[in-house]
Amino acid sequence: MKKLVVALLCVLVAMNASCKTIKKDKSMIEKKSFGKLTDGAEVTLYTLKNAKGMEAKIIDYGATVVSLTAPDKNGIFADVVLGYDDVERYVRGGTYFGAIVGRYGNRIGQGKLTVDGKEYQLARNNGANHLHGGTTGFNKKMWIVDGTSMTKDGPAITLTYVSKDGEENYPGTVKLTVVYTLTNDNALSIVYTGTTDKATVLNPTNHSYFNLSGDMNTPILDHELMLAADTFTPVDAGLITTGKVVDVAGTPMDFRTAKKIGKDIEANFEQLKFGGGYDHNWVIAKYDGNVQLIASVYEPKSGRFMEAFSTEPGVQFYCGNFLDGRVPGKNGIKYPKRSGLCLEAQHFPDSPNKPEFPTTLLKPGEIYHQTTIYKFSTK
Ligand code: GLA
Repeated sequence: MKKLVVALLCVLVAMNASCKTIKKDKSMIEKKSFGKLTDGAEVTLYTLKNAKGMEAKIIDYGATVVSLTAPDKNGIFADVVLGYDDVERYVRGGTYFGAIVGRYGNRIGQGKLTVDGKEYQLARNNGANHLHGGTTGFNKKMWIVDGTSMTKDGPAITLTYVSKDGEENYPGTVKLTVVYTLTNDNALSIVYTGTTDKATVLNPTNHSYFNLSGDMNTPILDHELMLAADTFTPVDAGLITTGKVVDVAGTPMDFRTAKKIGKDIEANFEQLKFGGGYDHNWVIAKYDGNVQLIASVYEPKSGRFMEAFSTEPGVQFYCGNFLDGRVPGKNGIKYPKRSGLCLEAQHFPDSPNKPEFPTTLLKPGEIYHQTTIYKFSTK
């Protein structure tokens, strides 16, 4: 009898302990409606919550990160990305908040593309140039949710978009799959896999705007940025790369050691005039195709620190120069100029017309791969 009581007690203690662990692990995935498109298609919002309570909200429209919370140095969570409250704004918006942009993220000069000796005229949706895949890029498409799962690393969602041969005038049917995982060490990992049935170009990126203060009314000029780049690719007045790769040393483009974004932003420097601030591609110094640290951002007041890792050879650092405080974003906040910063891991802008840059050509039988990770901590 005594033995039985002891055994029972042991079972109860063990059950209690395991209950506690379950309670401590906050990870889960939730799904709810995010409204409808004009054609009646239902947009769904997926909330991934990791074991530490961090949340990523992702919609199938544009495979867009709508919100992402991260703790400050006191453990207080705040949303650190810009976005909208309703799908209609994502449909209308030209800001690319949080979306996967493609087929070609960034610019192609004059929208001119030559693949396998054949010329294609792409949409000129940014002055004379082509930007972020054209008038209806991947950010304005419904993606298929292949599934969600609680992986060993954290909750994950897999989305696929099939871009038909000729869509936006690009050759080849491209199938792009993106897996977002909110890892239990507080990172949002984005893994891309792509294939094509005809030679084409593929250069997708995620276009999240970060403001680590969590107060989207304040500009990001006090954020301290480090870019793992000794050189950048200068642009012309239309923001098309010239083909040159120039040293950052002695220029406002030098972020080899972390410095406040606002420190040199108003310097009398032609490249900054062209971009209306920073809107350039930096060349990752130690690029070798493996995942490595490409950038870090620190916001001193909150103590939030974000590190970006990627397999990509370049990163477009854009500091929200075109935000103008007109369009109401989440919670009705009208995001002012420079209230968010993007670190778009990518191949270089206008690579299809710059044979000296790493190629973005994708041929049938090849597999496109990119991994980019935004990891959050505090200091
Ligand atoms: C990219 C471009 C910017 C701007 C934004 C979207 O980052 O480089 O010039 O077009 O997208 O507003």
